[in-house]
Amino acid sequence: MATRKTPRRTKKAADKKSGTATGKRIIAVVGATGAQGGGLVRAILNDKNGPFTVRAITRNVNSEKAKALADAGAEVVAADLDDVKSLKKAFEGAYGAFCVTNFWEHLKPEKEISQARNMAEAAKDAGVKHVIWSTLEDTRKSIPLSDDRMPTLMGKYKVPHFDGKGEANDIFTQLGVPTTFLVTSFYWENFIYFGMGPKKGADGKLAITLPMGTKKLPSIAAEDIGKTAYAIFEEGSEMIGKTVGIAGGHLTGAQMAKALSKALGQQVNYNAVPPAAFRGFGFPGAEDLGNMFQFNSEFEQDCCDARNISETKSLNPELMTFDRWLAENKSRIPLG
Ligand SMILES: NC(=O)c1ccc[n+]([C@@H]2O[C@H](COP(=O)([O-])OP(=O)(O)OC[C@H]3O[C@@H](n4cnc5c(N)ncnc54)[C@H](OP(=O)(O)O)[C@@H]3O)[C@@H](O)[C@H]2O)c1
Repeated sequence: MATRKTPRRTKKAADKKSGTATGKRIIAVVGATGAQGGGLVRAILNDKNGPFTVRAITRNVNSEKAKALADAGAEVVAADLDDVKSLKKAFEGAYGAFCVTNFWEHLKPEKEISQARNMAEAAKDAGVKHVIWSTLEDTRKSIPLSDDRMPTLMGKYKVPHFDGKGEANDIFTQLGVPTTFLVTSFYWENFIYFGMGPKKGADGKLAITLPMGTKKLPSIAAEDIGKTAYAIFEEGSEMIGKTVGIAGGHLTGAQMAKALSKALGQQVNYNAVPPAAFRGFGFPGAEDLGNMFQFNSEFEQDCCDARNISETKSLNPELMTFDRWLAENKSRIPLG
């Protein structure tokens, strides 16, 4: 993974001298009303003297979130990932584009792949100079479909929400789109929004439940994904063609439970269940997530190596630790 070679302020000064006489360069942000894209929008808006201006892409420019982005100073435009023409229009004139798909809205890897193709084609047609594609591993390269350690899902995937994104990497490459591949990590916000927060068990005690045994999970504050993407755009063309994996921590379930206990001021246990039990929990995506945690466990070293914390921090010096994230977010964690 690449690390920042030029100190940010020097880089910005160079950017200013070398090419922004006509004004700031536009970064078009897909998912601007969401976690990843929203972090990037805020990073751009917060750096008032920076080289970029932001174009926030949403399906609904009248949503509360879209209106808040406009109020904060973003240009807000409508486009739909299923409509390549709308994307091309939204990318027109942009220097950079941040591309992300939302698997959890539809649970269909084929749709993610088709949406990634639309973004890649639109970026190519619009002549975008630097794309960041928010991706994950194609786990089938490590666990082929014939490997029965975990079930094959939807006929041709092991971890559908990883595999579709990983498969889509080639589309950007084959179309010759100047792309940085951003490999993200498990968000700590899953303890707030994704039903993964501490829950009371039959013993009346709080516990988080993960099928990770004693293995470490690369994880991150969602806001840091956008902040790191911002740094990658600042670094510029030298990041094109590179894969940048990011994390704010590599933590075991026990370490997360301990940190949660300290932050919340009450005991949170770690309930380490087998992946098969997690797959059987029955909520939409449970099998996919069970396989994902098993992939993370069985390829612990590879998954952590692919997401180097100090290299992430060298790009994004504000990178949060889990303790710091908890200090800021503990009151938002529902205790079931
Ligand atoms: N949760 C985790 O731990 C984790 C970790 C790594 C990666 N991920 C991946 O992160 C992705 C989701 O990103 P996120 O968390 O930033 O999303 P999010 O907060 O749920 O927001 C989804 C965003 O996607 C936009 N969007 C969805 N469908 C669209 C479409 N058809 N056209 C245009 N925009 C569309 C939405 O925009 P509008 O609604 O405004 O149109 C919204 O801004 C998922 O694919 C997931 O696999 C999640």
